[in-house]
Amino acid sequence: MSLIMKTTSCLLLLILAITCTVTGRDRQYRKFLDQHYKYGMRTRDCNKKMNVTNELYNANKCKPLNSIITKPNWREIKAVCDGAGRSFHMAGIRNLRESLHRFEVVTCEYTGESGKAPCKYEGTKEWRYIVIACNEKKLPVHYQFDHN
Ligand SMILES: *[C@@H]1O[C@H](CO)[C@@H](O)[C@H](O)[C@H]1NC(C)=O
Repeated sequence: MSLIMKTTSCLLLLILAITCTVTGRDRQYRKFLDQHYKYGMRTRDCNKKMNVTNELYNANKCKPLNSIITKPNWREIKAVCDGAGRSFHMAGIRNLRESLHRFEVVTCEYTGESGKAPCKYEGTKEWRYIVIACNEKKLPVHYQFDHN
């Protein structure tokens, strides 16, 4: 193999590796937004929203509880990983951040018994502090809990 060919294939591999790492991290972030963010969502939208979440991420079973941030917006959530949050310590879980201000959160609670589809939910809405996990790119990747 010529030197140019070797260099080219190395370069291609490098680009591929970087692309994979970046999209892997962003996939976690997209999954977080899919499950835990819907701007302006109402409590009566829980059934519709959880239908999609359970089908995409929960193998069609009914997740017992899910929190969805509905205000102010995704930029404010992202900022919790940076200046709008502080580190939060909890045994065994790394990179947790607690928000410095409250978010409007809709909590969807499963009301059935079988745990099987079609899943029915009851929703409540409140302004709460959120605790989330962030990755090394300062993107939210996990919703831990929220509190008053
Ligand atoms: C989603 O809604 C469809 C249509 O009502 C229903 O057949 C399906 O079982 C639901 N899936 C879940 C996971 O609730």
